[in-house]
Amino acid sequence: MSVRLDKFLSQSGERSRSEAVKAVRAGQVRVNGQPVRDPALKINETDVVTLAGETVGDDALQYYLLYKPSGVLTAARDSRAETVMDLLPEALRRRKVLPVGRLDKDTTGLLILTNDGTLAHSLLDPKRHVWKRYIATVEGRLDESDVQAFAEGIPLKDFTAKPAQLRILEAGDEQSRAEVEVREGKFHQVKRMFGARGHEVTALHRASFGPLTIPDGMKTGDHIRLTEEQIDLLRKAVQNASES
Ligand code: URA
Repeated sequence: MSVRLDKFLSQSGERSRSEAVKAVRAGQVRVNGQPVRDPALKINETDVVTLAGETVGDDALQYYLLYKPSGVLTAARDSRAETVMDLLPEALRRRKVLPVGRLDKDTTGLLILTNDGTLAHSLLDPKRHVWKRYIATVEGRLDESDVQAFAEGIPLKDFTAKPAQLRILEAGDEQSRAEVEVREGKFHQVKRMFGARGHEVTALHRASFGPLTIPDGMKTGDHIRLTEEQIDLLRKAVQNASES
């Protein structure tokens, strides 16, 4: 079965249809090694298509950053609730792009999605966890004793959290805001760490994951494709974490 080249590129989740047309006209696409400039060219399953030097197809590895909104589950699917996968185009769901780790339903922020199981596994490996930065709004006044406790490692019911960095952004009697960096990713970890200090978390946002941060101006629910440079930085972060 043959399909137009621009349609193939957009269905593969590489580009929107109009971006695909531009990429072909700009000479970024090759079919079986030959440069092509006609977005309407018909291709079939046996043709090898490359975009900017990378193979496009079912086995191509894909990396995305999603700005997760509150109220959406981090799960591949759920029979009742909306999941992060529902925010992605059908083409990416077909490519088995999955979330790397979890954010709670009410947590917002940066979520990586990929079909690169090896990198996903390394990013989640407890021995190699990379730093993740959160902004937390909590009940009550945070003070230096909390900063100290986070730095020492907070004992929780089933484990002691690894030393984490807490930076108080605003401290009030009713409510405080803080930036916290942790390298683990256990269930409700940040909420439990604050909870152990008597501060209930009322809002949690992941601002960065290793070298990646949410780009300025990005809206909740939107996703972007990671650049080669960002993917390299992620790989390096895994290596550095395993060496430290
Ligand atoms: N820690 C939490 O408690 N919740 C999250 O969603 C992420 C980290």
